[in-house]
Amino acid sequence: MLGVIATVLLGLPAALAQGSTCCRALQEAGLAHVLYPNSTDYADRTASYWSVSAQLAPSCMVQPTSTSDVVQVVNTLVKSASCSSTKFAVRSGGHTVWAGSNNINDGVTVDLGLMMDVTLDKNSSVASIQPGARWMHVYGALDPEGWTVPGGRAGSVGVPGFLTGGGNSFFTAKKGFACDNVKNFELVTANGDVVNANADENPKLWQALKGGSGANFGIVTRFDMFAFPTGNLWGGTATYNKSATAQQIAAYVKWTDNVVNYPDGSSIIFWSYLPALSDIVILAAYEDTTGNEAPAGFDDFMAIPRMADTLRIASHKELTDELEQATGYRDIWFTMTFANDAEIFTKIVELNEAFVNEWKSTSDDPDFITQCMFQSIPTIFAKHSVERGGNVMGLDKEDRNAIMLLFNIAVKTADQELIARPLLRSYGEKMQQFADSKKGLVSWQFLNYADAYQDPLASYGPDNVEKIRAVAKMFDPQGVFQTKAPGGFKISRVGASTGAGVAKDALLGGVGENVEVVGNLSEA
Ligand SMILES: Cc1cc2nc3c(=O)[nH]c(=O)nc-3n(C[C@H](O)[C@H](O)[C@H](O)COP(=O)(O)OP(=O)(O)OC[C@H]3O[C@@H](n4cnc5c(N)ncnc54)[C@H](O)[C@@H]3O)c2cc1C
Ligand SMILES: *[C@@H]1O[C@H](CO)[C@@H](O)[C@H](O)[C@H]1NC(C)=O
Ligand SMILES: *[C@@H]1O[C@H](CO)[C@@H](O)[C@H](O)[C@H]1NC(C)=O
Ligand SMILES: *[C@@H]1O[C@H](CO)[C@@H](O)[C@H](O)[C@H]1NC(C)=O
Ligand SMILES: *[C@@H]1O[C@H](CO)[C@@H](O)[C@H](O)[C@H]1NC(C)=O
Repeated sequence: MLGVIATVLLGLPAALAQGSTCCRALQEAGLAHVLYPNSTDYADRTASYWSVSAQLAPSCMVQPTSTSDVVQVVNTLVKSASCSSTKFAVRSGGHTVWAGSNNINDGVTVDLGLMMDVTLDKNSSVASIQPGARWMHVYGALDPEGWTVPGGRAGSVGVPGFLTGGGNSFFTAKKGFACDNVKNFELVTANGDVVNANADENPKLWQALKGGSGANFGIVTRFDMFAFPTGNLWGGTATYNKSATAQQIAAYVKWTDNVVNYPDGSSIIFWSYLPALSDIVILAAYEDTTGNEAPAGFDDFMAIPRMADTLRIASHKELTDELEQATGYRDIWFTMTFANDAEIFTKIVELNEAFVNEWKSTSDDPDFITQCMFQSIPTIFAKHSVERGGNVMGLDKEDRNAIMLLFNIAVKTADQELIARPLLRSYGEKMQQFADSKKGLVSWQFLNYADAYQDPLASYGPDNVEKIRAVAKMFDPQGVFQTKAPGGFKISRVGASTGAGVAKDALLGGVGENVEVVGNLSEA
């Protein structure tokens, strides 16, 4: 039972009413880039959200071009009477897939897309990155210098969401999560103060920003990352017939336990339904970060006959350009983590196939893509995190090598999204239940892959939740980033029965540009 209550047309004037005086106040404060729905820039920025689900309709977007602009934006939003009843969202790369994390209907979206500078200081081994940069811009600046940083594996992903949500990169086995490689964050607080957070200055904020989601503390205006010299990498993708499932699972379980011995390698494998093939295939992304061609660590994968591959020597940027994913869909994600165990792995792959078959028989639109993607989370990852100053993800408490799942579907219309959401969730819950029944469910959830109703911050454990809460309170005592900026995973909503409450409202109200679909997801 889907529980669709009503579908109503939402006129543009209504959407504009609340935020418009605040938008004018931003202009009057001297901000040159205030984009209204009647402009092509606004349309372009809306279209640049990776998932169509996240393309909402703010009254305006404001694009700061400097840290002092961000201060001006925050001061206006928080202190100006014209903005007293206006809510806002913060958007960088715009890659979070669900509605209401990085955008807002009505209200103001602070869009950092014009702050894109990337500079490298080889003497101090620091790359300074502004929040509007995507990873392709970061690698595009560093590759020609023969340097790099651990970052996204698809070039279009934004830097701030990725880093403040942890960030899993090709280099995690060697250097910890990408966030563990941030030397310093520059942040504008709700009070309009510019603060730095590093090992010496505001160290608790430094730790909290590593996994605690930027959405809880302020607006990050610069990331200073430890950079290092690199040559080309080896890697690319390989495609297998799904009949290789058992061999792939055996190879991956072995791989996961071997990461500690071969930290230069990275392997992601996923079962993907592709409309062009009308079938599920197995795709793999393999990399060796030192540029060794198919070293012994990959032997088990290389022994499996493949349909095609692009394996080669290439730059970090080229390899991440290749892993770009199709846009123009409404993307629904689900994540969980489980102990490195072939039986659980196999069951998840079977449930994924059952999901694909059920979706095929449910939906009348053949244009959909699914992924059931696996990534090793061995204990060595968190050991590096601790060595590098620690983060708040709580993975250091896990004593088993684990695998993280990203299970997702991409569909074309709001109607399809509404049907697919509860179906994907129910299959995800079956996967969790099976893992749990085998004592192999790992409580940790990866924030960067979690859906709005999931509760990744809670999964970090009560001690880390308390740390994040204390830091959020210290830097934002009024809770501006908890309530006036409702988007994202909020520490104040940890433990709320359905996860991100306001996000859920946005999700219900935000599935179309002009169409508002009102439903009750928990009834599905
Ligand atoms: C194709 C694709 C590939 C991906 N690959 C990877 C991968 O390899 N590894 C991985 O770990 N993840 C990956 N992800 C997940 C990705 O890390 C998250 O979607 C992440 O949130 C994207 O960052 P963003 O800057 O684009 O986020 P946005 O969606 O813009 O923002 C995310 C959250 O952070 C807040 N925020 C944004 N900017 C700031 C800021 N400057 N200061 C404070 N808060 C801010 C927003 O309000 C929002 O709540 C991938 C996602 C996609 C779609
Ligand atoms: C666009 O909308 C804004 C805000 O309503 C208005 O000030 C501006 O004049 C409009 N521009 C055009 C070209 O219509
Ligand atoms: C390089 O860094 C050192 C300290 O780390 C500093 O003393 C020196 O002046 C720097 N050199 C340049 C060229 O910036
Ligand atoms: C996988 O192999 C089976 C059996 O050999 C074949 O029928 C099927 O078409 C193959 N799938 C793809 C996507 O090539
Ligand atoms: C949604 O459905 C659940 C379960 O039936 C119910 O408890 C809840 O009150 C409903 N919420 C709304 C807003 O109708």
